[in-house]
Amino acid sequence: MKSYYSNIYSFNKRTLKKTVNYLSKGKVVGLPTETVYGLAGNAYSRIAVQKIYKMKKRPKKNPLIIHYYNANSIKEDVIINKNFVKLYKKFCPGPLTFILKKNKKSKVVSTASAKLTTIAVRFPNHKIVRSILKNSKFPLAMPSANISKRLSPVNALDVFEDFGNKILIINGGKSKIGIESTVIDLTGKPKILRPGVLDSKDLKKILKIRLIKKSKSIRSPGTLGKHYSPGIPIFLNKNPKNDNHAHIVFGNKAKRKKNIFNLSKNSNLNEAASNLYKILRNIKNKGYKKIYVSKIPNKGPGIAINDRLQRAAN
Ligand code: TXA
Ligand code: MG
Repeated sequence: MKSYYSNIYSFNKRTLKKTVNYLSKGKVVGLPTETVYGLAGNAYSRIAVQKIYKMKKRPKKNPLIIHYYNANSIKEDVIINKNFVKLYKKFCPGPLTFILKKNKKSKVVSTASAKLTTIAVRFPNHKIVRSILKNSKFPLAMPSANISKRLSPVNALDVFEDFGNKILIINGGKSKIGIESTVIDLTGKPKILRPGVLDSKDLKKILKIRLIKKSKSIRSPGTLGKHYSPGIPIFLNKNPKNDNHAHIVFGNKAKRKKNIFNLSKNSNLNEAASNLYKILRNIKNKGYKKIYVSKIPNKGPGIAINDRLQRAAN
């Protein structure tokens, strides 16, 4: 059924066919994943990849993640290794992105991975995007479906806010995880380049991971500088002086007031991660001019939450 926003579709056989058809013609579409919504295009098509960069106003030096149905479908594009196999078996499909060496025969267009000798691959765990991947003859280059530096989208309407009716959008409800995948570099000693809800503790149960000190961290190109921003100033680990400013809190001790936005009343960091972008967007749309954020525990998913907030406050 068509929704009020005529380019936002619910998922069914007909819209599956339409989406796969659009993608195979080099068009770009907005798709739900379990982390955030993505702006998807055929990773083997130079035209599609070019459109993604242009629409997102994304710097060309910031590479895209390539999404696959399963590990069988990556072999021609990247060189897999033991660490990959271990993590894949345990966590995939899921919110984990692997940096692997590019295979010489790879059909992924070089501009998609910013002409690097590595490719980021992910196996999203969302039935809509999995069904689209299964029915396509190519993987999907898919950054988050927002204009560069802005907030990542966790609903179909969030994608609409940035791209209007320029693209077809599939509505898959709210992204459950709500924060981008963990990015892990497996080209040498494993290292985490971008924290996600799967934090280093879970991953370390499977293999040794180098912990990178923040100041020295070698990060993904796209995690440098200001990012994930609602476009208004954010102050961390501070309370506002009055009720005119939005105040983001965490846990059950928080007061209830109009300007207070609780990431999780049950002090659950997964719930907090899942609410983060939704709350930031809500605050912005309510017209607040400043955001204050009380301290959030820096463990588990809290590490990823603090990472995104620091980048938004940058
Ligand atoms: O959860 C997610 O990962 C979402 C959904 C849509 O899958 N996608 C996403 O894509 O967050 P994007 O483009 O917003 O972030 C991709 C990150 C960037 O920080 C980029 O620099 C990094 O992955 N990346 C991509 N290819 C890389 C490579 N070859 N080496 C190092 N970092 C890479
Ligand atoms: Mg992004």
